[in-house]
Amino acid sequence: MSILVLGGAGYIGSHTVYALKEKGEDVVIIDNLETGYKEAVHPEARFYEGDIRNRAFLDEVFEKETGIQAVIHFAANSQVGESMVDPLKYYDNNLCGTKVLLDAMVAHDIKHIVFSSTAATYGEPERIPILETDRTEPVNTYGETKLSMEKMFKWVGKAHGLTYVSLRYFNACGAHISGQIGEAHNPETHLIPLILQVPLGQREAIKIFGEDYGTKDGTCIRDYIHVTDLAQAHILAVQYLLDGKESNIFNLGNGIGFTVKEVVETARKVTGHPIPAVIEGRRAGDPAQLIASSEKAKTVLGWKPEHADLEEIIETAWKWHSTHPNGYGKED
Ligand code: UFG
Repeated sequence: MSILVLGGAGYIGSHTVYALKEKGEDVVIIDNLETGYKEAVHPEARFYEGDIRNRAFLDEVFEKETGIQAVIHFAANSQVGESMVDPLKYYDNNLCGTKVLLDAMVAHDIKHIVFSSTAATYGEPERIPILETDRTEPVNTYGETKLSMEKMFKWVGKAHGLTYVSLRYFNACGAHISGQIGEAHNPETHLIPLILQVPLGQREAIKIFGEDYGTKDGTCIRDYIHVTDLAQAHILAVQYLLDGKESNIFNLGNGIGFTVKEVVETARKVTGHPIPAVIEGRRAGDPAQLIASSEKAKTVLGWKPEHADLEEIIETAWKWHSTHPNGYGKED
């Protein structure tokens, strides 16, 4: 049996492939390397470079890799800001790409898919912590396309006997314990890698977007979840589907919120650098607080996040960034 990982050269995809390989699974990867990196591809996975919008390419892979029993789908664009400036890019890659993929899965009788979803499907939360049954009203195109993808799985599943698990991540962060793979986005927009650019000498100060929220120190609260814990949830979700269980949706977070200022302070402690911070205006579209209830994933999937400590999370990120200051770039 093999597992096909779409987007296996990206941040969360590559960590999931490493976790699958650590478990001894046979892994096939598809990635178009638009935002993923060849260097992040696990050396023992079979890698096909190509785009999920290309049906002939997908058919070729499914015809060659006849042992595929489940798909884990990370192949999507995921920048909130970009999705507001270029929404059609998100509809094309995220939705049209998934449509082509599902066509190919139905044609090749592949029955299970685990899907990389997001807290952005909720939009402004109606309560904290957020439950899977809460209102989903995305406030950006990225979240909207991910929610539409979830719905596509639902209806295609009903018609063709396909089951899916959608995993709604909160703030993915940290890096593989080995320091071999980590977070590398271009451009980088996420808080922790941006903070760590300061001790790396790549940025003068970290900008804090808004100090006037109704939170304990006025800055936004997020639920930071280690990428390795996310990876484990995908493995459990594949097993859940292979066991014949019904389609389902799970939040993935630690259920603990940290303010932006707390994250900066923890990074100062980990790196020993003063990391100057500059207060800026609010960033458009940022909810004040996003904290998950992941009780369902814990109860139903048996998921146990193991790296909930923010200091430990930032330590793994720092290990990666300090040894790969240019990500997967050549100047490392
Ligand atoms: N922030 C700063 N300064 C920065 C960068 C970020 O203060 O330079 C703040 C943001 O305003 C936010 C927090 O740090 O309050 C975290 O921001 P990130 O950009 O790291 O993450 P988001 O919470 O915006 O995004 C995450 C996921 C998205 C998902 C979104 C749902 O990364 O994929 O949650 O709202 F869509």
